[in-house]
Amino acid sequence: MKDAEDVLVVRPSRKICGELTVPGDKSISHRAVIIGSLAEGRTMIYNFLRSEDCRATISCLRSLGVEIEQAGEQIHLTGRGLHLQPPDRPLYAGNSGTTVRLLAGVLAGQKFTSEIHGDDSLSCRPMLRVTEPLRRMGATVGHRAGGLPLKITGGNLRPISYDLPVASAQVKSAVLLAGLFAEGQTSVREPAPTRDHTERMLKTFKAEVCSQGSIRAVRGPASLEGCRIDIPGDISSAAYFMVAAAVIPGSEVFVRGVGINPTRTGVIDILQRMGARPTILNRRVHGNEEVGDIRIRGEGTLTGVTVEGEIIPRLIDEIPALAVAALAARGMTVIRGAAELRVKESDRIASLVREFGRMGARIEERPDGLIIEGGVPLHGCLCESHGDHRLAMALAIAGLRATGQTLIREPGCIRVSYPSFARDLARLT
Ligand code: S3P
Repeated sequence: MKDAEDVLVVRPSRKICGELTVPGDKSISHRAVIIGSLAEGRTMIYNFLRSEDCRATISCLRSLGVEIEQAGEQIHLTGRGLHLQPPDRPLYAGNSGTTVRLLAGVLAGQKFTSEIHGDDSLSCRPMLRVTEPLRRMGATVGHRAGGLPLKITGGNLRPISYDLPVASAQVKSAVLLAGLFAEGQTSVREPAPTRDHTERMLKTFKAEVCSQGSIRAVRGPASLEGCRIDIPGDISSAAYFMVAAAVIPGSEVFVRGVGINPTRTGVIDILQRMGARPTILNRRVHGNEEVGDIRIRGEGTLTGVTVEGEIIPRLIDEIPALAVAALAARGMTVIRGAAELRVKESDRIASLVREFGRMGARIEERPDGLIIEGGVPLHGCLCESHGDHRLAMALAIAGLRATGQTLIREPGCIRVSYPSFARDLARLT
């Protein structure tokens, strides 16, 4: 395998074997720096994800006056309490939806005006889902055609009770973070459970957070205490290797120290339903997050399944990887209720259909999902990443079972979440 700057070359592999530690969880890394910045005193973060997305969060917070020192995967920062400093230029979130949406919640609480931009892909992603609740809380938020840049003038927020129109952890987190600044209880009702890292981390920083049924609430104004955060490995990154092992007979992969927060483990549940047997060993708790080691072997053919309903937010980022499992399975896999895929780093429904289609897959586009016929042989070819890290990594895994070489153009996007992906893949194949 070769990772030239503009093309990633993947050759068929007879099996994938070995041990692996995937980099720190992306969602938790963003939250650790953002919430630490709003706390009093020092926060130490270990196993921070060194990726472009997380770098964007650090750079925005530095522009907002937070002192952040980084040495490899360790971060030491001195929080400013709830009061950040006005930035002297627009903030830049790069490709990172989590940076822009979570920071929008924080900026809504600041008594100054700031502007936040992103790259071409992020600039087109929907932002009204965060601007609407933040306006209701009293912030003034401008946007361009529902996208970036956002211009936010914050301060004097009032608490709200908000019914999330989409199951989105980023929107929930934006409202809860803004709630830290409002006097009284701010609550959010979720249509389906989404990742709860913000709530867990706010508790670690000693905020008043409560959860009842589908409602998540915080009480403001909050006083957060700096602390130590140990970030688990990212299950979204581990997913590519889990799927690769499951679909290549004779494989065995052991991934150490993976976050197994139940709001993130939909990929394990679906691989089990497809007939794979991922095993979680050495379960432990780091701070408020569960961690385990995952072992998975390639034993026998998987079976197609229907993926729909409440599990979707628990595996939304793993659908490109799961599509590779579906391509290798016996029978049809149907994915429904996943229209959110259309507003990720690419329109993932369209881009998966197009790129797997080039490899010979029978995969059909639906407004809110995919229908994938398993067992159709794939052939390597030249594919496009569409600037989408998760699509690029899924194509690489699919290439392991294809005949001939798979070439993935513009694989640099992988750096937003898993810079060492190509190296790890080369080592295990
Ligand atoms: C994330 C939430 C999800 C996910 C994204 C990270 C987060 O997005 O797809 O990769 O860190 O909160 P949505 O909130 O838009 O569903």
